[in-house]
Amino acid sequence: MTTESEAQVSEAQIAAHWREEEYVYPPPKFIGQANVSDPAILDRFREDRFPECFKEYADLLTWEKYWETTLDTSNAPFWRWFVGGRLNACFNCVDRHLPKYRNKAAFIWVPEPEDAETQVITYQELYRRVNEVAAVLREHCGLKTGDRVTIHMPMVPELPVTMLACARLGIIHSVVFGGFSGAACGDRIADSESRVLISMDAYYRNGELLDHKAKADEAVEVAARAGVQVERVLVWRRFPGRYESATPMVAGRDEFMDEVLRTYRNRIVDPVSMPAEAPLFLMYTSGTTARPKGCQHSTGGYLAYVAGTSKYYQDIHPEDTYWCFADIGWITGHSYIVYGPLALAATSVMYEGVPTYPDAGRPWRIAERLGVNIFHTAPTTIRMLRKLGPDEPKKYDYHFKHMTTVGEPIEPEVWRWYHQVVGKGEAVIVDTWWQTENGGFLGSTLPALQPMKPGSCGPGVLGIFPVILDEEGREVPPGSGKAGNMVIRNPWPGIFQTIWGQPDRFIDIYYRKYNRNPNSKDWHDWPYFAGDGALQAADGYFRILGRVDDVINVAGHRLGTKELESAALTVEEVAEAAAVPVIDELRGRAVEIYASLKPGFQPSKEIEDKISAAIERLIGPIARPKSVWIVPDMPKTRSGKIMRRVIAGISNFTSPGDITTLANPEVVDVINRRVRSAKVERGQVPRELSEAELEEIRAFGKVE
Ligand code: WTA
Repeated sequence: MTTESEAQVSEAQIAAHWREEEYVYPPPKFIGQANVSDPAILDRFREDRFPECFKEYADLLTWEKYWETTLDTSNAPFWRWFVGGRLNACFNCVDRHLPKYRNKAAFIWVPEPEDAETQVITYQELYRRVNEVAAVLREHCGLKTGDRVTIHMPMVPELPVTMLACARLGIIHSVVFGGFSGAACGDRIADSESRVLISMDAYYRNGELLDHKAKADEAVEVAARAGVQVERVLVWRRFPGRYESATPMVAGRDEFMDEVLRTYRNRIVDPVSMPAEAPLFLMYTSGTTARPKGCQHSTGGYLAYVAGTSKYYQDIHPEDTYWCFADIGWITGHSYIVYGPLALAATSVMYEGVPTYPDAGRPWRIAERLGVNIFHTAPTTIRMLRKLGPDEPKKYDYHFKHMTTVGEPIEPEVWRWYHQVVGKGEAVIVDTWWQTENGGFLGSTLPALQPMKPGSCGPGVLGIFPVILDEEGREVPPGSGKAGNMVIRNPWPGIFQTIWGQPDRFIDIYYRKYNRNPNSKDWHDWPYFAGDGALQAADGYFRILGRVDDVINVAGHRLGTKELESAALTVEEVAEAAAVPVIDELRGRAVEIYASLKPGFQPSKEIEDKISAAIERLIGPIARPKSVWIVPDMPKTRSGKIMRRVIAGISNFTSPGDITTLANPEVVDVINRRVRSAKVERGQVPRELSEAELEEIRAFGKVE
């Protein structure tokens, strides 16, 4: 929906100017060993070979029954991939590697305290542990194929073990990021109707042993209020045998996993043969309403896609030591710590804590000690390490052949530090653009075949055909210097199947906008709307500008404005709230909240603090606002819609844009003066924004 004032300037009409960066070429040493260095692959994945080209990815897996139909579009846009096939994801990630790699490390886990022992889990050990947990899920908990289980855990090996145990039985796991609050976890339990919650007592973060079990109690309570009763809470212990949480265990509901496991020692549970289209997991993400979206991913299509992209884009060989420094609680961790790397029999490093504990040299010490040669992280981590330890990498003797950046746009300056200092000029970089909904990478260079360009993700990946469309669905041609909406013209095996329990919303958000005919069974009529603004250069490379919907990307984490605003509205004095992004040097974007109060209340520091605290309690510390501004009124359209674009402009010291059509234009000046002077006083004046950042602010909150 477009409002009056927004309709006047279409994004595609705003020319964006930015300096074209020079290409950077992959080192010959990398090309010499790459999984793919023959350009013939580009031909194999040409558009006229679609969808059959994806057989190449499916053939990386072991199928119990081979599939018959590559892509079934009969119920568009609910795509079905590899129809007729049967397989088990856990078998593909664990069992099938035993003959060759039984005693090779599957995971190397590094606890946060630096003097603690590193834990090596071989494929044999992983097999044993996964089977035992599967036995607990099936026999002790009575769970069966198709049931949902919510897992709220930190970065410990028990997390992937639990996920794989679910996959072994066809139980749909829903992992909630450990840093999320109990309340956020409770909402997701309720939405997925999980009767079992798997949690942990405590974990290390920034030198502190945090109590995590307390969140489980809150989650169960919140879910109960929403009508879903959690019957069992299984609690892993950070130190088996020693309970580190202050919260009591609830009799009849809570059990220690290490105690339950004693009965199931060395038990073997056969993997359940699953149809390719059976759901493997749900991963919740933020959207345009407060209700989170449970992105439902398939077994066969998803696993094939993450295996294929891990092989060609991450260049993982079984003999590499691969470290993806993300949290398994996000899609990056699911696809590129657990499922993709394990499908290829990789050795995958997991780290419990924060990058800068105890200092900004920690990641490089880990890399040196373990011989990591593939490194994968997000711009927010890179920016932080660059700020706190710009020369640290030089002190350590490690050598990366390959590095990834993912989750947010990376500034070319930061990219260059990553390349020259972290990568010592020896590594190739892939800037991978994709989303929770997508299962795996959509935009990236093929590391041995396509040169890098700082700040651009590259072209569409193999078998993905993106295009930039304007609001009316017209193509914005490459090299035009104009921005538009990032759209994928075709389906792919890793695409999510639906939003759990909300099929109409699935179509509305992702397909309605550019659908040519709602009854069509031809995939060409169903372009996928990604919700990102982007530009395409003449060479076909995409530069992602950021979200065009009501989502704020904080340090690579998607936060919905509606979620933030609902949390702010739980404070009794608040009448209205609006969340907007501000450009932040370290976290990419930070959240600012604007609130107006109910009659009879006066603005105060106390109310501001209450709003911050409510957001932190209901969502988690990552959502904590940078500032809360209490204002006399919100700028609104005549139909009463809050103009987030206008306040986003104010927060970022840019022009609030056209305000002539507002119902209350006079309030803009009042807010502008107040916010600016407070920011000047606090020393929070933002640097001058780039053209791309200005674009993003102008477009913010445009799509409903
Ligand atoms: C943003 C993370 C620029 C984008 C895998 C997208 C990026 C959102 C990049 C998805 C990148 C992701 N360059 N922006 N390489 N990768 N994004 O669902 O706005 O947590 O829509 O998935 O992150 O975030 P999500």
